[in-house]
Amino acid sequence: MFDKIEELLLQVRQFQTGDKNEIEQFRIVYLGKKGSVTELFEKFREVPAEQKKEFGQKINGLKQAVNAKLDELKAALSTETIAEKSDLTRPGLPLELGSRHPISIVRNRITEIFRSIGFAVADGPEVEDDWHNFTALNLPEYHPARDMQDTFFIEQNPDILLRTHTSSVQIRYMENNEPPMRILSPGRVFRNEAISSRSHCIFHQIEGLYIDKDVSFADLKQTIQYFTTELFGKSKIRMRPSYFPFTEPSAEVDVYWGLNSETDYRITKGTGWLEILGCGMVDPAVLKNVNIDPEKYSGYAFGMGIERIVMLLYQISDIRLFFENDLRTLEQFKTL
Ligand code: PHE
Repeated sequence: MFDKIEELLLQVRQFQTGDKNEIEQFRIVYLGKKGSVTELFEKFREVPAEQKKEFGQKINGLKQAVNAKLDELKAALSTETIAEKSDLTRPGLPLELGSRHPISIVRNRITEIFRSIGFAVADGPEVEDDWHNFTALNLPEYHPARDMQDTFFIEQNPDILLRTHTSSVQIRYMENNEPPMRILSPGRVFRNEAISSRSHCIFHQIEGLYIDKDVSFADLKQTIQYFTTELFGKSKIRMRPSYFPFTEPSAEVDVYWGLNSETDYRITKGTGWLEILGCGMVDPAVLKNVNIDPEKYSGYAFGMGIERIVMLLYQISDIRLFFENDLRTLEQFKTL
């Protein structure tokens, strides 16, 4: 009887299979109702009293060995099926691609165009003081042109405000650098324009500044023309006299968009012309304010709203879409 147990133990230890049915068969052969281990337990009664203890230990040991083997075989089986079921060579789930905001896309494109002709990008604070946003730009207190650029002030200190244009960056740059200088200042600006539900108190601008000896209006015109050709593929421009306190003379630039489609008629109000930016020769009073000698140096400046250009390029009809952050809008710019 003891030999039989030893023999079974050896068989159990040596048993191997990766097949689910064979494992079940193995269980039945040993632990089933008529299994060998079960039979041995039944024989317990017949064992002489003095051998009962040893016999008990042996068959319990055998039973444990069978169970241990079952656990081992099942564990191997489950790792095997995981490996079988999952195709480890299958490509992973694609990562969702984000997209740039259309305002960033167009800002980058405009910046690239001017960078290619020697403009460097300059940055400045959005929270400004009166001097950099207005006074140094020849817009002293009580100047009527300040009305067009009403903004947000801090009640306790009217000297602090949210910048109304990025011309403030140009003042800061001119204060801290020597000519020649050629800079571009893109950024977020603020105006109190609650008058129309279509306008927004936040928008984005790109302004440019070039100061050197003998800079002329012809340089300005040629630069703007280069820009419109690069950005829109349109080189026909016109300059209309305008007024800005910080430039003299000043002009508004229109691009000839054409009248080839119904949209062209709509966006140009039937004229074919589209206003895209304001510009002019830097007023000598501004140069004096930043300690640049206007007898020695001259320069031009220009400024444009980015939203307007994005709307033109992508035919977007409502400016509020830029700020709603609706994924259905933004996702359309994924591949751009
Ligand atoms: N700063 C002007 C504005 O915000 C734009 C501008 C810049 C006009 C430079 C002329 C020259 O309206």
